[in-house]
This record gives sequence, structure tokens and C-alpha cells, in this order.
Amino acid sequence: MNLEKILVFSIFLFYVQAKKALKQSLGGSWTAVTETFYKYDLPASVPGGIYSDLMKQGIIDDIFSSYNDNDTKWVGASNWTYSYNFTVNPNFFNYEHVNLVFEGVDTVADVELNDIRIGTTRNMFKRYIFDIKKHLKADGNNTLRLYFANAPNEALNLNKEQNNHYRIPWECPPEQYHGICHINMLRKMQASFAWDWGPAFASLGIWKPVYLEAYDDALIRDLVVRVEKAADDENYLLLFDVYFANNSQGFLNGTIGAKLYMGFENIYKNFDVQEKVNERGEILKTVSLSVDIPLIRLWYPNGYGDQPLYKTVIYFNSHLDNAVTNKIRKIGFRFVELVQEPLEKGATFYVKVNDVPIFIKGSNEIPINILPEEGQNRRKTRTLLQNAKDVNMNMLRVWGGGVYESDYFYEVADELGIMIWQDFMFACSLYPANEAYLTSVEDEVDFNLKRIYSHPSIVIYAGNNENEGVLADNWYNTADNYTQYKKDYVALYIDTIKTQFDRISKGKGVFVSSSPTNGKLTESQGWVGDSPSNQFWGDVHYYNYILDPWNSNTYPIPRFCSEYGYQSIPFEDSWKTAMDVNFSVSDPLIKWRQHHPIGTSEMALLIAQNLKFPDAYSSNYSREFVYLSQVYAAQAIKIETEHYRRYRSYLTDDGRGYTMGALFWQLNDVWVAPTWSSIDYTGRWKMLHYFAKHFFHNIIITGHISITRELDVYVVNDQLSPVENVNVLFRVYRYDSIDFQPVYEDRLQANLTASASQLLRKVEIDNLFEELNCTLTSCFFYYVIQKNASLTDNVAISPENYIFPGKLKHSSLATTTVQIVMVTKLGPKSYQITVNIERIALFVWLDSHAIMGKFSENGYLQVQSNRTIYFDSCSDITADELKEALTVTHLKDPNWS
Ligand SMILES: *[C@@H]1O[C@H](CO)[C@@H](O)[C@H](O)[C@H]1NC(C)=O
Ligand SMILES: *[C@@H]1O[C@H](CO)[C@@H](O)[C@H](O)[C@H]1NC(C)=O
Ligand SMILES: *[C@@H]1O[C@H](CO)[C@@H](O)[C@H](O)[C@H]1NC(C)=O
Ligand SMILES: *[C@@H]1O[C@H](CO)[C@@H](O)[C@H](O)[C@H]1NC(C)=O
Ligand SMILES: *[C@@H]1O[C@H](CO)[C@@H](O)[C@H](O)[C@H]1NC(C)=O
Ligand SMILES: *[C@@H]1O[C@H](CO)[C@@H](O)[C@H](O)[C@H]1NC(C)=O
Ligand SMILES: *[C@@H]1O[C@H](CO)[C@@H](O)[C@H](O)[C@H]1NC(C)=O
Ligand SMILES: *[C@@H]1O[C@H](CO)[C@@H](O)[C@H](O)[C@H]1NC(C)=O
Ligand SMILES: *[C@@H]1O[C@H](CO)[C@@H](O)[C@H](O)[C@H]1NC(C)=O
Repeated sequence: MNLEKILVFSIFLFYVQAKKALKQSLGGSWTAVTETFYKYDLPASVPGGIYSDLMKQGIIDDIFSSYNDNDTKWVGASNWTYSYNFTVNPNFFNYEHVNLVFEGVDTVADVELNDIRIGTTRNMFKRYIFDIKKHLKADGNNTLRLYFANAPNEALNLNKEQNNHYRIPWECPPEQYHGICHINMLRKMQASFAWDWGPAFASLGIWKPVYLEAYDDALIRDLVVRVEKAADDENYLLLFDVYFANNSQGFLNGTIGAKLYMGFENIYKNFDVQEKVNERGEILKTVSLSVDIPLIRLWYPNGYGDQPLYKTVIYFNSHLDNAVTNKIRKIGFRFVELVQEPLEKGATFYVKVNDVPIFIKGSNEIPINILPEEGQNRRKTRTLLQNAKDVNMNMLRVWGGGVYESDYFYEVADELGIMIWQDFMFACSLYPANEAYLTSVEDEVDFNLKRIYSHPSIVIYAGNNENEGVLADNWYNTADNYTQYKKDYVALYIDTIKTQFDRISKGKGVFVSSSPTNGKLTESQGWVGDSPSNQFWGDVHYYNYILDPWNSNTYPIPRFCSEYGYQSIPFEDSWKTAMDVNFSVSDPLIKWRQHHPIGTSEMALLIAQNLKFPDAYSSNYSREFVYLSQVYAAQAIKIETEHYRRYRSYLTDDGRGYTMGALFWQLNDVWVAPTWSSIDYTGRWKMLHYFAKHFFHNIIITGHISITRELDVYVVNDQLSPVENVNVLFRVYRYDSIDFQPVYEDRLQANLTASASQLLRKVEIDNLFEELNCTLTSCFFYYVIQKNASLTDNVAISPENYIFPGKLKHSSLATTTVQIVMVTKLGPKSYQITVNIERIALFVWLDSHAIMGKFSENGYLQVQSNRTIYFDSCSDITADELKEALTVTHLKDPNWS
């Protein structure tokens, strides 16, 4: 028996004999009561939330339907009492410490145990631990009560109090949000009082687990595992920061066993611990394992390699009471750097993982559900992340107006290689910086960072969403008191959040103070830059609803674009979950849910820039408008994203470029509404999400037309290896071609450089078109990259792509019929569809309506008479059933006006 085995064996023996720390869940069915208007007395799930319970009991209707957000405002505007009777495992009384632990309470509550006030909760992101030993009854029932004060009222009061000193905007959301005021006064999900894409639900409840814990000397409270390279360059170091709860000695004596599972050969080591409690009331011991570099496989983001995860365990054996405890973390070995190297103007801003510069491709995630308890749903969490991976994303930004996501969310991200940009939960506002507030935030950061920091997927943290811009660009008329607000800003994001971040990450984590920010420049300007959206520095957020969204000359050329987007309207089938009446885009419900002021007019104008606006008197007007809203938005975001990708290897004459990130706004939805999302609330992919699969593909071919009408065709290869001897197939088609034959075709041989964008071909459009008897509105360009699979076979290695040299609305594109001619079942839930056209068809859109599933591509351009599309269904149906359900439309559908 080797030493390691002896140690494990002896620990095992302790396990059998020792007095282990105890835990008793207090989750389950509680009782919730309100007497605000009527008396309601109902079973309440813990973990859970009051809106979910009221729906479950049939007391309120589905809050996502109709105007129920408005009709159920009383729920969040009422005070609720949650109570629970429990008996305690008698063993608890043999322990020195007995605590009541809440991992998350939403939000403002007084907590009583057996009629004795034991504490209050004021921050839904905080973990609350109350020492309750002396209040606990050994025999009979203990009664736990939480008196929840309604959040809107609490926010209002806090704001009144604040106004005695100075005001802290954002006071109230715009009228169109139908929202609630002063969310910034509360440490509560900032979007829960409404956003420009979401409803106001002042949620309330115990949204995360609650339990009793008992221990004598030793309890591992938190565990952070960090990965570093050893100085010798031959080993990786696994650093375990083991955070113990304090005990009555303020001292811990014992042995830590650290273990790394590697399949055959595990690594195990023991460490003596003699540690005193620190000034934060915790006992911290850091131990490390070192492992030979060749034994480890590195974790890579999606598209760059695998995501090997390793299980690690920390055991603790206390010499004081012989107790044994352990904690497990699944980790990945990966090394992250945010590179900000000086350029002639400004600096670069990109992420390197394992020394590989990564072009960031992805989107912004808003809360999985507007009810935080529902956001813990595992199936929804996995589906969302899988949908991101399915369209070649490698990053999601967890946006600062939502929540720190569940452990499961980050576990799945680790598994799928979806990197996470993690905002701290502050958005589009100014925030208080009084002592109580800062202390609360300090605890919030401490708890959440220790909880999530070990996940390899999280590569960058940001202090807030857009709050530097709020100040610098004077969003809320605060310029008069700039000095005060800047002082508060620094106190919150730098002196509090960054200080905690540096403490827990040991100064090794990647942190930016805001998004957008100018990175190093912001830092040198005392953390509030003059112009956070400066293209030469850091990241930018870019929105414009006036300029032509299909003209790439209109877009900025930043180092990194972490937000950009356009609104569109979900399809009718999704609206059916929210409205009973005949679908119409002018339905008051759609207006009610359009929170972005003048959003629908902007959409109409954006559509009309490139597409023929539908006839408002046509019977199909609403369907056409919805379809066009998705066409314009998908194509706009495609054009904008490809523009950022083209600039990965180029600088303009004035020094902009080397763009290394594109995160469009926004991935998901919290209700069926006109928003910027690529996946709607029902889980249906909008056209944008299908487009993302192509515009985020590892190899793309993409064109740009300059104002002098030169077409520049680029290839962008994000792969780490070059691709040699490819054929670039370049064609010109007439829109009204009757035989699908291009009027021009050539093939260019090329080698695609690794990790680069590369200009392949320049075309003077006027000259070529004169030769071809084309005009800007009679012909368009089409290209694809192929590789010889065999002597006779060329296979596409990039998505095919196209560019319209003139406005599509003036083009000679012909009306044609498009038909689904064949549906074949290939296997369980797997189908092949043949789409047949008479003439070239644009933005061909297949819809399976009530049958949920994913097409291999959708919204595509068809230049051949038959095209094969694959469909993965969520349910196993026959080919005929699918064929029956399927419909297809396109830009020149005879049914359109
Ligand atoms: C929203 O609720 C208020 C107050 O109950 C009511 O006056 C108003 O008509 C409602 N609005 C809609 C659109 O239902
Ligand atoms: C708890 O027990 C008391 C006394 O038996 C009872 O009056 C009360 O209804 C119980 N509460 C719950 C939530 O079960
Ligand atoms: C404890 O609570 C349960 C459930 O509320 C109740 O049925 C029981 O009578 C209570 N027991 C005592 C001793 O109060
Ligand atoms: C809710 O509780 C708060 C704090 O205890 C109180 O000020 C407020 O009046 C209560 N509101 C209602 C509607 O009962
Ligand atoms: C720690 O425990 C060991 C083993 O029981 C004991 O020998 C040692 O004296 C203790 N050290 C302290 C500082 O209590
Ligand atoms: C600036 O702060 C002072 C008090 O500190 C207050 O009287 C004044 O109204 C504030 N101005 C603005 C524009 O908020
Ligand atoms: C591509 O690379 C191969 C081998 O390095 C070389 O022979 C060929 O000429 C290159 N082709 C082009 C188009 O540059
Ligand atoms: C050029 O195109 C126009 C319009 O399509 C057509 O009328 C004309 O015959 C064409 N000329 C030639 C030389 O193909
Ligand atoms: C298109 O597909 C249909 C159905 O399979 C077939 O009958 C037809 O011949 C195909 N057309 C061409 C041009 O291949």
C-alpha cells in the first residue's frame, strides 16, 4: 500500500468514526400569506418565488400571457409572510455552531425564528448566515418566518431617504416600460422592474436553497481553485484556497488532503493546517498540487479544441474534533490574458486563452427567466447554452442587469466551451455608495466570486454595464455634481468590487471596470474616461437606428464590440402563447410589449431602407411585417458582424481596427415581445440565430463594397492552422435569371492564413458590370470557398455568401413560387427536406409551426432549383406529419403585397 492509499484509507476511517458537520434542508412546501387586498394563504415552494406559486395554485393566470404583467402588479406590491414549521435532528444540539443559511432571498425580509428576530435580508445576491443555536427548540416545532416587504415600496422609501442627501438616478424607467421606479436602490435583479426588452415583475421569495448547518471546529465554507504555471515551466500548479467558517477557538488545527483525479494516476497530497481566523472572520488556507505539464490536457473555448474537465477534492480532517469534511470542484486547465498592447493610437483589446488570441464570437445573455427562481431551471439553462454552441458561438456575456447565474449554468458552459464574460450586477444607472450599501456589495462579491471563480469558462469580469458611460456621457443630467458621482463610482466599482476581486483572485483575474470601457486608458483617467465608447481603446457598444443597416460603411471599427443589435418581432406561433385574438402587428398587446420608445417605427424605417415596405391594407400585412423585421435584422447583424471579423487583421489609416470581438445584443428573451433577441421566449430560433451559425462559422468569405463601388472580398479564417489550396468560387447572378446560370464565374486558388482575415480579391463593380450588361439592381455577387474532396468533388468549407450591390427594394428580383417537394425521414426525429424553386429566391424561410425543432439552415438564399435542408425535431413524428406542418416563404412570395 503506497503512502497515498494509506492516507486515503485513514481518511476513510475517520469518515466512518468522526463527527461530521450536519446539514438539514429547510426547503419544501412553506406557507405564504398576504393580507394586502384579499387574504391569500397558499403553499409556497422553497426554493421558489411567489409569482410561480400563485400560478401553480391557479390564483393568477400565466403571467407571460396577455396583459397579466399589468394585472398582477399587486403581487409584487404586497407584503408576504413566508412560514415554515420544522423539527430539528436532535444531533444538532451536540454541536457548537448551528447556523441558518440562506443562499438567496429575494429581497427585503425580516427573519424570525420562534418569534425572535434573528436578522434581515436586503440583497438577493448575498448568502445570509444566522447563528441560531440559542433560539432553536429541541422538542416540538420550530417556526421560521420571513416577513417580506414589497420591493417597489422599499425602493421608493430608500430613494426618499437618499434624496435628503442627493439624488441618485436612474429614477424611473421611461413610460413605455410600464415599469417600477428606483430599482438602483435595491440589490435585486435590476431588470425585475422592467427593461426595454422585458416586463416588470417585482419578484419575491426564497429563490435559492435554505438549510441548517451544524459543526464544531471545521466547516469548509468555500473553495476556490486556481490554475497557474509553475516557475519551472514544467508543472502546472493547482492552488486551492480553502475558506473555513470561523469557530470558537478562532483557530484550526488539522490536515488538508488535496486530490486531483486524472483517470489512472491521481495526485494526492496532505498538508498541515494551523491557521488563525483573519480579519474577515474566515480561516483561509491555500494549498497547492503540482502536476507535470504533459499529463494535462488544456481546456479550450468552443472551436479551438476540447474541454477536458478534472475533478478535484479537498478533504479536511480536524485535529480538534476529528471531523472530516470535503468539497468538490470540477476544473479545467486554461490560462487567460486580456491583452492591451499599445498601438500607434490606443491599444489592442483581446482575449488570449492558452496563448492563443481568440476572436470572440457570441452574444449577450439576459436572465434565463424574469422570475429568478425559474432561471434556475436546468433544462432551460442547458438548452440556452447548447443553442449558443450550435451556432458557433464561443462566448456569452452575462449582462449586468440580471443575476449571477446558477452553478449549473457555469458547469454547462465549462462543458460546452462557451466562455463567459461576467458582469457584476449593476446596469445603466448610478448607484449609492453609502457604507451599508458598500458592505452589502462586498459580501455579494465575496459570496458569488468564491462560488463561480473556479469555472474555466469565466474568462473576464466587468464591474458593471454601461455605468461609466452613464457618467461620462451625462445620461441623467448629473454633470453638475460630477465630482460626487465619480467619487461614488470609484468607491463602488474600484475600491469595493475590484478590491474584493483582486483579493479573491489573488490579483490574477481579468477585470475591467465597466462595459464599455477604454481599458487601460480608463484606468489612467481615474476610472471614468472622457468617452467610454472610444474606438481606439477597450470595448464599445454600438447602436444606430437611422443609418442604412445593410451598408457596412456605417459601422464603427472598434477593438471589440461587446453590444450591437436590431429589434425584430417574433413569429405568430410564438405570439399565440401570449394572445388569443387574431394576430396583428398593430394589436395593442404588441404595442404594450414594445418597450423601446418608437421601436416599431424605427423597425419600419430600417426595413424600408432596403426592402419594399408591405402594403398596410394587404390581408397579409402583419405576417409580412414580422417576416421583414426578421429579414432586415438578421441581415443587418450579419453584415455588421462580418465587418468586425474582417477587421481582425487590419487597421484603417487612422488606426482603428484589429477588432477581436463581436457579441451581438441579445441572445434570449424573457417574454414574447419585439426585442433584439435571436431566440424568442418560446425557444424558437429567429432568422438571426440561423444567420449566426453562418456569420460565426470558423471560415467565412465576406465582401465589402466601398463608397467608390469597389468590392473587396475577404476570407476570415479563425482556425489555428492555414488551409491550403482552396478554390474561391466567385459568381455574378442576375436576380431574374431563368435558368440559375451565373452570368459570370471564376475560380481563384488561395491559401488561407491561420487566425487571420485576408483580402483575396478586389473588383471594380462598375467595370465588371458594364462588361456583363449588369446594373446595380439587376445583378448580385455570390461566393463560397471550396476544397477538393476528390478529383471531381468540391466541398464547401465556408457558408456560401452574397452581397447586393444596390438596394434590394429596387432590384429586378422576380416573384416566384417556392415549394417543399419532398420530406424524408432519415431516423428518429431526423428529416430531410427538398425545397424547389422556379427562380432565384432570397431569405427562404421554412417554418414547422407547432412542431418544435431546428433546421440545418434557414432564411437562406437559393440559387439552385432543388436544395436539401435537414430538420431535427423535438418530437418523433412521421415525414407526412412534418410535411403537413411545414410552410415556406421568401422575399418575393406571391402571397406578399
Ligand atoms: C394596467 O393596470 C392599470 C391599473 O389597474 C389600469 O388602469 C390600466 O388600464 C391597465 N392597462 C392595460 C393596458 O391593461
Ligand atoms: C406551525 O405550527 C403552528 C402550531 O402548531 C401552527 O399554528 C401553524 O399553522 C404552523 N404553520 C405552518 C406554516 O405550518
Ligand atoms: C408541528 O407542526 C405540524 C405541522 O404544522 C403540526 O401538525 C404539529 O401539530 C406541530 N407539533 C407541535 C408539537 O406543535
Ligand atoms: C409593507 O411593509 C412595509 C415595511 O414593513 C410597510 O412600510 C408597508 O406599509 C407595507 N405595505 C403594505 C402594502 O402592507
Ligand atoms: C495540532 O494537532 C496536533 C495533533 O493532534 C498536535 O500535536 C499539535 O500540538 C496541535 N497544534 C496546535 C498548535 O494546537
Ligand atoms: C447636487 O448636489 C447638491 C447637494 O450635494 C444638491 O443640492 C443638488 O440638487 C445636486 N444637483 C443635481 C443636479 O443633482
Ligand atoms: C499555397 O501554398 C502552396 C504550398 O505552400 C504553394 O505551392 C502554392 O503556390 C500556394 N498557393 C497560392 C495561391 O499562394
Ligand atoms: C442588356 O440588358 C438589358 C436589360 O436587361 C437588355 O435589354 C439588353 O438586351 C442587354 N444587352 C445585351 C447586349 O445583352
Ligand atoms: C428536384 O427534386 C424533385 C423531387 O425530388 C425532383 O422530382 C426533381 O427532378 C428535382 N429537380 C432537379 C432539377 O434536380
